[in-house]
Amino acid sequence: MGRLARFSVPISKRTSKLKSKWRSVEVRLALFSFECRLCDRLRFCLPADDTERNPLSCNQTMKTTIVNSAPSQVETESLVVVVLDHANTGAGEKDKKPELKSASTDAAVQAAAADLLASGEVTGKSFETNLLHKPANLKANRLLLVSGGNAKKFSAYELRRIAGTAARALKSRGIRSFAFVAPTGVAEDEAVRAIVEGAHVGNFDPDYYRSDRKDQKIDAVTVVAGGDKAALEKAAHEAQIVGECQNFTRDLVNEPSNRMTPTILAERAKKMSAEVGLKCEVYGADKIKEMKMGAFWSVAQGSDEPPALIVMTYEPAGALAKPMLGLVGKGITFDTGGISIKPADGMEKMKYDMAGGATMIGAMRAIALLKPKVKVIGIVCATENMPSGKAQKPGDVQIAMSGKSIEIINTDAEGRLVLADGLYYARQLGCTHLVDAATLTGAVVVALGYTNAGIFANDDDMYNRFKAANAKAGEKMWRMPLDEEYKDHIRSSIADIMNSGGRWGGAVTAAMFLKEFAEDTPWIHLDIAGTAWMEDQKPWIAKGPSGIALRSLVEFVKSFAA
Ligand code: BES
Ligand code: MN
Ligand code: ZN
Repeated sequence: MGRLARFSVPISKRTSKLKSKWRSVEVRLALFSFECRLCDRLRFCLPADDTERNPLSCNQTMKTTIVNSAPSQVETESLVVVVLDHANTGAGEKDKKPELKSASTDAAVQAAAADLLASGEVTGKSFETNLLHKPANLKANRLLLVSGGNAKKFSAYELRRIAGTAARALKSRGIRSFAFVAPTGVAEDEAVRAIVEGAHVGNFDPDYYRSDRKDQKIDAVTVVAGGDKAALEKAAHEAQIVGECQNFTRDLVNEPSNRMTPTILAERAKKMSAEVGLKCEVYGADKIKEMKMGAFWSVAQGSDEPPALIVMTYEPAGALAKPMLGLVGKGITFDTGGISIKPADGMEKMKYDMAGGATMIGAMRAIALLKPKVKVIGIVCATENMPSGKAQKPGDVQIAMSGKSIEIINTDAEGRLVLADGLYYARQLGCTHLVDAATLTGAVVVALGYTNAGIFANDDDMYNRFKAANAKAGEKMWRMPLDEEYKDHIRSSIADIMNSGGRWGGAVTAAMFLKEFAEDTPWIHLDIAGTAWMEDQKPWIAKGPSGIALRSLVEFVKSFAA
């Protein structure tokens, strides 16, 4: 014990002095790790100083360019063309032969693809890729054909995924740039956005900590499209911002909890805010207690890792006083369940329980760069949920910032507790409209699987506006009910409400709990527990953090500025 105590003080001083000399610290840590496994200071200092394998140094930008020359005249490592099936396949005709056509009006492109498409080797099923080398009469070195499925059903939504598929197919072959031909059938500005956003999504891989990580990424994307070049360049620029911010969020979510503590999350938010000109304040345990955030603190009290209340403010010149939008994110950097502890199987996944918070940080970055004329406040309630001698226990009663009393039934229902105070605080700061995003319930995964995020709303106008933004952004979400009857599930005999409504309708009763703190402020709750993490890789996206909801949130904010 003596050695441990003597050791833990000097090393933490040294690590802060030796920020750039990580290697020598690493050697010392390796030497001493056998005797300081439990040392909090080390756990805390270590990741922040690690710059060698850090996503911040890996997530570089992808250059985007618009050209409106004929696709056959574009010099590129690979020209990418969408293939669509024009067969009118009716019910029960699944085996009907596809009628495949490349979605480009360029005769040379059509000719180059014709033999392959006629060969019968191409099925035309979505995301199928075929690569031709030295295509005849094209200036491109290669021609990548990506199938987009049924021509009648093809839209910007599918195009985004096709672009991601192209990026992943090409980068896995070591190709670093390509030119994507905007397909006929999708409006050009929409196509440019979808292609650039989709390429960014596809370009992301989460394997930063693998020693055998291959340096494979797309550095530059060209979109070949006709029409108003300036307008298309603006669309590409905006889509690049959104794509980069979605990947910024994914980087935050991807980090394991020893490298993404509430303190580190707050540091990242501060650094980002300084870079893009946002105001960012971070409050610790004292301020959280002083502000009487009893629900937030009840979760944080059990952890040795300090909590962080992150508040990012965007107030553009010329914006009206109202509306003021509040984006509130659940930032549980690790959810063990607390005293109501989770089973060991799959617990490692609970590092992504801060995805809602990371989404708000990424969304604030995009908003600061896109500059819509509307006020926005981003709030992230960041803490671990740990069992300990200081942890709250089932049966405890907590008083939220709003004054409502909460009987704790299950300490694993912690997300709604931190959000209760986050939502109430946003209203105190003057927010007129609220959106929260949270990996809130396993029950939403039971209800909607991994395909749709759950949307809950206490106001139909707010829902309609959000749904329109959501459709534009091409993210799958589905509205869930909030009938008054569900309130019965969370009535307590000792306090105003309970923090768990039991098993049935668990996603809805969790949302009903939050509704108690949004009160009459128009509010949207997004339960992203099933969609924030890809369980498997798909042709257009890697396994791991998805960055869901960021694009919808950015579109939603933009809708207020118009
Ligand atoms: N973070 C979890 C929800 C979750 C589950 C996120 C699966 C991602 C994937 C949340 O804090 C939680 O534990 N919810 C409980 C609530 C219950 C105790 C009322 C749940 O869903 O089981
Ligand atoms: Mn939990
Ligand atoms: Zn949780």
